[in-house]
Amino acid sequence: MEDTKPNVVKITFDGIEVEVEAGTTIMQAARRIAEADGTQAHLVPPAMCYYKPLEGTGGKCRACLVKVAQGSAKDTRPMPKLVPSCITQVQDGMVVENTTNPAVLEARKGVVEFLLINHPLDCPICDQAGECHLQDFAFEHGAAQTRYEEERRTFEKHDIGPYIQLHMTRCILCYRCVYTADQITNQRVHGVLNRGDAAEISTYIEKAIDNDFSGNVIDVCPVGALTDKTYRFKNRVWFTKPVDAHRDCPTCKGEVTLWCRGEEVIRVTARKNQWGEVQDFICNTCRFDQKKTSDWVIEGPTKVQRSSVISANKYRADLVKKPDFALKLASSQYKAIDDSRPYVTDPDTIRQQSVENNDKANHRSLLAENN
Ligand code: SF4
Ligand code: FES
Repeated sequence: MEDTKPNVVKITFDGIEVEVEAGTTIMQAARRIAEADGTQAHLVPPAMCYYKPLEGTGGKCRACLVKVAQGSAKDTRPMPKLVPSCITQVQDGMVVENTTNPAVLEARKGVVEFLLINHPLDCPICDQAGECHLQDFAFEHGAAQTRYEEERRTFEKHDIGPYIQLHMTRCILCYRCVYTADQITNQRVHGVLNRGDAAEISTYIEKAIDNDFSGNVIDVCPVGALTDKTYRFKNRVWFTKPVDAHRDCPTCKGEVTLWCRGEEVIRVTARKNQWGEVQDFICNTCRFDQKKTSDWVIEGPTKVQRSSVISANKYRADLVKKPDFALKLASSQYKAIDDSRPYVTDPDTIRQQSVENNDKANHRSLLAENN
């Protein structure tokens, strides 16, 4: 009888052994480790262009580079260059280094710097702020400074219809929206036009994007390049309350997240998994036209990761009301103040201490200059 057992291979990722089916990518193997043990989620390489639900994505942004220290059990040589983990398949006996390899961490800093070269720092007015993967990527993996002095790219404004706002300056050319339109709509009219530093997302001859599933490009965009025009400037995401809800929809599964301000539904999105990927793509009717709570069957609060800024201001009432809550918060957030020094009120002593402090500060700066 034919053996139908899947071909299983074993790899070591950041010192942890995991068994996966042959053909799995390094990224998926790392996610498998995190899914089995949530405390290892930090080991998973970041992804700015790869998106599991969309076939063909990945290999564009280089955010997920890792070091393959041993190619396989048969060929133990390391791979000469860092490889994108989202499109590199595992081999039996492969040894991969991510957070354990300084060269990987350094390369990632470079990728952040590179992605931010042309990205405007308009987070304070961007609707994506608080759920932007580039913000998270820069915060977790970036350097504090940039060496870029040239002017950022600018683009002609394109109107791509009544529902979707395109801010081309924010686009990192991950191609996710293009794959979305290719795979889940039947009449793609947008794509990446031109090449090199002139490449941009646009519609062909200013044609508006309108088909039943076009709104999904908003959910897959990792930055604020494609946002929901009906939600524009309505609220900051961390002030809204997300709840899971569903409705009987003839076009899609009708399972969504409603983003509410009080009783008002100000935005509807697809539900996402722990990797920020859409679980079920939703239709435009659910997304743009059903904005009353009575349109939906509410299931309950959306699970938001505790580390997410979206969970800010959402402390449970029973905890907040406890008298020692503020004290515990303060003791965990602020450094203790050294107040063991005597409390001085005499002006001469204060003047004397001030002169001494200045001398000490001058001495420190002279030391720094001479070293
Ligand atoms: S618009 Fe968004 S999803 Fe489309 S390529 Fe640019 S960054 Fe990616
Ligand atoms: S996530 Fe792998 S190259 Fe972009």
